[in-house]
Amino acid sequence: MSSQNIYILGIESSCDDTAASVIYNGRILSNVVASQKIHEAYGGVVPELASRAHQQNIVPVVHQAIEKAGIKKEQLNAIAFTKGPGLMGSLLVGTSFAKSLAYGLNIPLIDVNHMQGHILAHFIDEDGFEKPPFPFLAMTISGGHTQIVKVENYFDMTVIGETIDDAVGEAFDKSGKILGLGYPAGPEIDRRAALGNPKAFQFTKPKVDGLNFSFSGFKTAVLYFIQREVKANPNFIEENLNDICASIQYTIIGILIDKLKLATKQTGIKHIAIGGGVSANSGIRNALKDGEQKFGWTTYIPKFEFTTDNAAMIAIVGYLKYLEGDFAEQDVVASARLKI
Ligand code: KG4
Ligand code: ZN
Repeated sequence: MSSQNIYILGIESSCDDTAASVIYNGRILSNVVASQKIHEAYGGVVPELASRAHQQNIVPVVHQAIEKAGIKKEQLNAIAFTKGPGLMGSLLVGTSFAKSLAYGLNIPLIDVNHMQGHILAHFIDEDGFEKPPFPFLAMTISGGHTQIVKVENYFDMTVIGETIDDAVGEAFDKSGKILGLGYPAGPEIDRRAALGNPKAFQFTKPKVDGLNFSFSGFKTAVLYFIQREVKANPNFIEENLNDICASIQYTIIGILIDKLKLATKQTGIKHIAIGGGVSANSGIRNALKDGEQKFGWTTYIPKFEFTTDNAAMIAIVGYLKYLEGDFAEQDVVASARLKI
């Protein structure tokens, strides 16, 4: 990478996290995230409330990011922001703010694809974390995304598989809701899964051709199973919670690993990098380690704060695009369905 001295501010507001980060060359100087607790009461993200919270948070979050980085805003070389995909109302807050700040400071504006951000987060300089070599397969798994992407270079990426309905995080969260767990349920299912028997209950895996995923049928299968069992025994959930969680997690991870196996077979690529909130799951981490031994994979998991929605990943893409002179104009617009 270049030896220039480049400071980029990254701004992320695509869903329910308002985030800002300053990167100096490839290193993160600050990474501030204001998570919106308000959605917990609703069991999922409420778009209208998310945009409002972004408006409240964006100025203090950006201010903090610049302050923590120990620089003055006049030292920034460019402003990078998430153009999409995401919730339109949420994206508009970050986009408009980034445009105004870049205009006010008279510095370039850089639009960033959120999904590329999740993938290129692996290129943040961080001690103890190795960067994947090209080409590699990136699997982005979170409450909003489930994709397998073939990455040949920083900006040469092809989506080779994605969900046709729910994201994998939703499979965790919606199953958790059926079981009466709080939102988001992924971490609790993970914790309980470690205490249960993964083979206690069987759920059929959805049949989806090729490298695409489907999780909406899985959620319905969990619902019908629980309804049936609770009818026979009203205490079924309490008596079997750890086993149910272990079985759900086992099935979901099985679905992800089956597709990864197929993807490595089809592409011949054995370097696998994962990102997104679900990459915190211990089941997927163990399964990847297993894959290293069984199939000769090399796997890469970034530092946790760079896997969930964050602005450091937007800042690194901003930095890479800055080096290429790839800037946006002031009339750039947010795009809810932006593709890689
Ligand atoms: O990346 P993220 O913070 O936000 C987006 O959805 O974009 O991911 C949140 C998702 C939620 O669905 C949450 O349940 C899931 O990641 N998650 C987990 C774990 N930690 C977070 N799912 C399973 N096991 C975990 N340990
Ligand atoms: Zn995301």
